[in-house]
Amino acid sequence: MQTDSFRWGAATASYQIEGAVREGGRQPSIWDTFSHTPGRVAGGDNGDVACDHYHRWERDVELLGDLGVNAYRFSLAWGRIIDAAGRPNQAGIDFYSRLVDALLAHGIAPVVTLYHWDLPQILDDAGGWLNRDTAHRFADYAAVAVAALGDRVHDWTTLNEPWCSSFLGYGAGVHAPGHTNPGQALRAAHHLNLAHGLGVLAIRSECAGASVSVVCNLHAIFGASDPPADLAAAERVRRIGNDIWTGPMLDGQYPAGLMDETAAYSDWSFVQDDDLGTIHQPLDAFGVNFYSSSQVFADNRTLTQRIADDGPTCWVADNVGFRAPGGPLTAMGWNIDPSALTWLLEDFAARWPGLPVFVSENGAAFDDAVTPTGIHDQARIDYIDAHIQAVEAAMAAGVPVTGYFVWSLLDNFEWAFGFSRRFGLVRVDYDTQQRTPKDSFAWYKQRISR
Ligand code: FCB
Repeated sequence: MQTDSFRWGAATASYQIEGAVREGGRQPSIWDTFSHTPGRVAGGDNGDVACDHYHRWERDVELLGDLGVNAYRFSLAWGRIIDAAGRPNQAGIDFYSRLVDALLAHGIAPVVTLYHWDLPQILDDAGGWLNRDTAHRFADYAAVAVAALGDRVHDWTTLNEPWCSSFLGYGAGVHAPGHTNPGQALRAAHHLNLAHGLGVLAIRSECAGASVSVVCNLHAIFGASDPPADLAAAERVRRIGNDIWTGPMLDGQYPAGLMDETAAYSDWSFVQDDDLGTIHQPLDAFGVNFYSSSQVFADNRTLTQRIADDGPTCWVADNVGFRAPGGPLTAMGWNIDPSALTWLLEDFAARWPGLPVFVSENGAAFDDAVTPTGIHDQARIDYIDAHIQAVEAAMAAGVPVTGYFVWSLLDNFEWAFGFSRRFGLVRVDYDTQQRTPKDSFAWYKQRISR
């Protein structure tokens, strides 16, 4: 499957690895606030130090070189690029500029995500993603970043998983900023869509030759059984999980039914006349993050009843219930279903033929055992191997997949789970910051050199 242009990569994100939160003129983000709020993150962990990548980036680029990847997906911290007064912050720009140069010197293409969830706190104080103006601030930031790095960075991604930013951040409340309001989640979703559209325009105006994408965690949602009611429930969940992004971004409209189905929670008055035209920008590629699949069934409860019974939820839909995941699970409690990745990629290609797609994240957390002879993470190897084969199956069926990025290069700060979950090909000892490649590192290196 290897062609010269196929991207074999590894991925990380700024808040999860960088640390150095008070250095280089960085302004605080909503994840600093959230992680320092007691009870929000497991173990009281925070990203103050994380993998200390801000100081150890040269070593981490060497690791990427050893791994043999030809691409590295990472994100910029908005609050390093833009200072609290809204001006470009040269120290932050210089940090990423050095990183980009080092990657290029190793023959590794930088694939840069502009927003992987670390919204400057100052913008949240002004309403965060509930405030339409945040979408415009995002475009300003995108323009600064692309003006500074676009001479060397070809691949730009606007947002990472806007579903998490809106539905986990404003619906379930398990991600920053921790709100639990279904109507707010929908409003945030629309402003993230708008930010994407304005961001694409900003990227293209600064760098005409850029390759521009967005990354979504498209959910592989299936009916728990065949009755039409279960299949209809799966469709409702796919609308609120997937089509709410792909509809406006790729088709220029919200999916039929979505507004009616959520009318009890929002009047959607935040959608202004020209918004859909702004959001609907031509894209060069689409990134899919994939980890697991879900099965849903028709439940007789409305969303309001479900929230009253079970507490806040990310699934803003009436009459849906989720089956507990079955089979062997990863340490996240997620099922392992590689064939669902093939299905997802084929379904995507059938709906948007010809649009190149890349797997922007895929990987697994397991409880790694450190032994005198190394970290023998066979379960992670098996997981990644099965998913690469699933990608190959989709390619064999004609899906134009252009890359695969393993999540993650390093163990890192896994959001609300803190440091308790490890996804890395490289183990990080958080006391010493020592990096130790796991067996999966050697396996992936060999696999991608074929
Ligand atoms: C994705 C995130 C990424 C990482 C993986 C495990 O949802 O984009 O930052 O946390 O999950």
